Amino acid sequence: MSLEAEVRTHFIKRYNKEPLLVTAPGRINLIGEHTDYNEGFVMPAAVDREIIFAVASNGTDQFNFYSIDFNETFSFRPNELKAGGQWYNYLMGVVNGFLQRGLQLSGVDCVFGGNIPTGAGMSSSAALCSGFGFALNEVFESNLSRLDLARIGQQAEHEFAGVRCGIMDQYASLFGQKDSALLLDCRSLTHEYVPVNFRAVQILLIDTKVKHALASSAYNDRRAACEEGVAALHKRNPTINSLRDVSIDILGILQQLVSADVFTKCKFVVEEIDRTQQAATYLKSNRVREFGKLMFETHWGLSHAYEVSCRESDFLVTLAEEVPEEVFGARQMGGGFGGCIIHLIRNEAVEKYSLKVREKYVATFKKEPDFYSVALNEGVHLN
Ligand code: GLA
Repeated sequence: MSLEAEVRTHFIKRYNKEPLLVTAPGRINLIGEHTDYNEGFVMPAAVDREIIFAVASNGTDQFNFYSIDFNETFSFRPNELKAGGQWYNYLMGVVNGFLQRGLQLSGVDCVFGGNIPTGAGMSSSAALCSGFGFALNEVFESNLSRLDLARIGQQAEHEFAGVRCGIMDQYASLFGQKDSALLLDCRSLTHEYVPVNFRAVQILLIDTKVKHALASSAYNDRRAACEEGVAALHKRNPTINSLRDVSIDILGILQQLVSADVFTKCKFVVEEIDRTQQAATYLKSNRVREFGKLMFETHWGLSHAYEVSCRESDFLVTLAEEVPEEVFGARQMGGGFGGCIIHLIRNEAVEKYSLKVREKYVATFKKEPDFYSVALNEGVHLN
């Protein structure tokens, strides 16, 4: 049975009525890491891994959910919204976003299930918020734009999961387009679609299966370091309001104003914003080798300067660098401390390379990595 049929069948069995069906994809990010909350550029894309929702209004004040993957039910009322690390806290955050905007909602019945690996840097939580928000917007005709929905998802993450994330993940899930990446300007919140058609090369994700318990506090610390750098520069020059406003030359001044650690973090971001713009020109002219080289640079910046990598991620990227005729670029993707390594790899090399990586990874870390080939897909939509 297809995922869509499974979700719909579960819904009808439970609630005995016909639901609205919505698909929300996870995302990859080709390049541009930790730049979104610094008003820089990012280059994500929605992929063919998704969460499907079946939703219908129930005319009460109760929100009822069944998660197929967790095999769990949960219900809440609007006066019971609270922060926490569970899947339903994100959904509470979305309801909160609607209510805060003064929108009229009644309760809903909802069943959802998907195939986005969690904690792998593919933004399953953004898909959860974007898809549920989109469904509420349809059911109650709230007239919110996709950008509003992205903001609601981001706010849910901040206030209900305690992670002060940027907007890349929600934006990519909502605005994705088949076979294209988004070149998203996180200052103007506008994007351009860039077709991805590297010939004979595919996007392969290798999941380290590492989930760092402190990843969200470390993420917030990095964001605070960036803010500290900006505040120091802003005092000198009030036109500087984000690291996007900082050129490589101004970095010299920053070095005098902040600790070595804060400086190193800010420098990485300023360079990454530049790298992402450069990468966009390579993508537009299909220069896969040059593009891939920048991905490796990003990775080592994430590892040595931004310090959000881990041994397992560095191990996989090092293996990739050893075979430049097979893997053109690789780097850790997402917030950091494990998750997936994104690879640009020659089609013909995938099978042999995957076997080799599996063997070496298991021998070194005593655990199996996962492999996902992904295709770039359309953003959140009605089925
Ligand atoms: C996480 C966040 C994003 C972004 C990335 C790092 O995925 O949710 O907003 O900051 O980390 O690029």
